[in-house]
Amino acid sequence: MSNIEALKKELVDTVKAANDIAALEEVRVSALGKKGKVTDMMKTLGSLAPDERKQMGQALNLLKDEISAEIEARAALLRQKEMAARLQNETVDVTLSPRPFAQGTLHPITRTLEDLTAIFADMGFAVKEGPEIEDDFHNFTALNFPAGHPARQMHDTFYLPDVAGGEGDAAKRLLRTHTSTVQVHVMQNQKPPIRVVIPGRTYRSDYDQTHTPMFHQLEGLMIDKTTHMGHLKGCLIELCKRFFEVDTLATRFRPSFFPFTEPSAEMDIGCSRGKDELKIGEGGDWLEILGCGMVHPNVLKNCGIDAEEYQGFAFGMGVERMAMLKYGIPDLRTFFESDLRWLKHYGFGPQETV
Ligand code: PHE
Repeated sequence: MSNIEALKKELVDTVKAANDIAALEEVRVSALGKKGKVTDMMKTLGSLAPDERKQMGQALNLLKDEISAEIEARAALLRQKEMAARLQNETVDVTLSPRPFAQGTLHPITRTLEDLTAIFADMGFAVKEGPEIEDDFHNFTALNFPAGHPARQMHDTFYLPDVAGGEGDAAKRLLRTHTSTVQVHVMQNQKPPIRVVIPGRTYRSDYDQTHTPMFHQLEGLMIDKTTHMGHLKGCLIELCKRFFEVDTLATRFRPSFFPFTEPSAEMDIGCSRGKDELKIGEGGDWLEILGCGMVHPNVLKNCGIDAEEYQGFAFGMGVERMAMLKYGIPDLRTFFESDLRWLKHYGFGPQETV
């Protein structure tokens, strides 16, 4: 028995002396492996008398378990130490090494939105924003879309699950199909005079060269006692001249229909189309750029504004369309592909260092 005690002490000491996982594995093999010390002693059991064999067998099994447990405990400790050492040494440098780019640039859509809102800011318009998730009231009903009106279908609306416990149209939630929703929020919360522009994302289920499921609009709303169609035309003509950087610009307001404006119009600007280029300003061709009109009295009433006392105009334009025309970009989908080569091609790549 005493040699078992001695062996145990010896093995425990060697386990404790093992300073890494590889050394510990060697200790395990030399103790419990095929030719290990404990295994060797097991082999001698056959030559013992039955009584002694039983006693010795039990003691050796116990020793085996004890040494295994010692090794496991030591291994856990060593693994922990190894991890701590690795964490110390293998730090990742998250700071950027000197990059070939000195300065990033704004995406053409951001740039266009900023340019457009800056022009309106100069004309005294404040900037307002509103939620992208809307209810049926703000997207349609308040804007004079009667229930079941075909214009609702024309919007290819993305609907969200109905509000729990709600009923009918009031429970319908959706991704706004136009920024005209924010006209409603503004009129509900602000007394005229109102003069705002509303930039933002809008959503319709559509995808081709001139449509993406998410796109941007810039809405305008002006309400006071005497605002008329002439003011609307003046603001929009001024906007286009400044945005497209042209001194002379042919414009045309064609009668159109929107449920929320009366009369309604679409604004076209003059252009000439060459083989590979489009020149904005004058020429025999026309480009449709936005929808507009005088705010329908029903909309004023729906938003709590006295339609006998107040009147005004509204307009809405597609921001991608304005950017495509200004920068000569033929496909709307490319705005959202994050392709650096594309950005560079249209002059929106990052500025490279010298
Ligand atoms: N909301 C309309 C659209 O998305 C545009 C518009 C806005 C027209 C305001 C008239 C007045 O097509």
